[in-house]
Amino acid sequence: MKDFSTRVAAITGAGSGIGRALAVELAASGCNLALSDIDADGLAGTAELVADRKLAVTTDVVDVADRTAMQAWADDTAEAHGAVHLVVNNAGVALAGTVEDTPMEDYDWILGINLWGVIHGTKMFMPHLRAAEEGHIVNISSVFGLFAQPSQSAYNATKFAVRGFTEALRQELDMDGGNVSCTCVHPGGIDTNIARNARLDKSLADVMPGDQEDVREGFQKALHVSPEVAARRILKGVRRNARRVLIGPEAYAVDAMQRVLPTAYQRLVPLSTKLL
Ligand SMILES: NC(=O)c1ccc[n+]([C@@H]2O[C@H](COP(=O)([O-])OP(=O)(O)OC[C@H]3O[C@@H](n4cnc5c(N)ncnc54)[C@H](O)[C@@H]3O)[C@@H](O)[C@H]2O)c1
Repeated sequence: MKDFSTRVAAITGAGSGIGRALAVELAASGCNLALSDIDADGLAGTAELVADRKLAVTTDVVDVADRTAMQAWADDTAEAHGAVHLVVNNAGVALAGTVEDTPMEDYDWILGINLWGVIHGTKMFMPHLRAAEEGHIVNISSVFGLFAQPSQSAYNATKFAVRGFTEALRQELDMDGGNVSCTCVHPGGIDTNIARNARLDKSLADVMPGDQEDVREGFQKALHVSPEVAARRILKGVRRNARRVLIGPEAYAVDAMQRVLPTAYQRLVPLSTKLL
């Protein structure tokens, strides 16, 4: 997809961060928007930012983990806009906790959003993308889909899974030679609300210095790249039909580390990591 003008893009998690920046960037390119988020206020804020563009913009409060709601959103979007060309499965949450300390409910929560949300968005929009003259799926993984770190088992599990799912999908789409393609995105630290909204497992907070707010602020300080830069990088990747998009210096460093030290990195990371 080389040009977003007059196209229709559906974005999950559009009420904040990377999703919001993508909406603004796509609107500037003349792209019509179907925006969703579980957070109605955030969604309304994004809608306001793109309101004066005279584009068709729909907003829907949707929980990406809810299969029925996602099916309804995909079908309603196609009906309301007449077509869907680009889907960005962006909604995501973070969680820090050791494997032993993380409750099963927290694994269910993050898998529901970060993995099932991506599978729902991909499968439920696929017939609509096939029906359009061209279609593209963007699935947001992370640097944590390239390497693992202590305290990130849950987030790692979801982001490695998104990468595997998307790389398999890309090969299927290449083989079938049709009108749909996909890209897997691995951002490093992007300055969004992800750390502020993260779950920190209580017992983990006990082993970390400072209270939960200090820990969140510590996370937040590690996020340097603006969401606007991330959005532009993602859309450049779509235009180039890239298989993988890396964003920020950490992503390139992690990618290099994985190539050079595919397993030995596991001895190095704990040396430089407290249990986050
Ligand atoms: N910020 C980073 O450093 C970073 C790095 C790597 C990957 N990512 C990924 O980027 C994506 C976007 O995150 P962000 O950094 O913009 O964070 P963010 O917290 O600013 O935005 C995430 C959005 O997802 C929404 N959301 C949460 N749960 C939802 C649900 N169940 N259904 C629908 N929407 C839901 C939130 O309301 C929020 O608007 C996520 O998948 C995240 O894992 C972020």
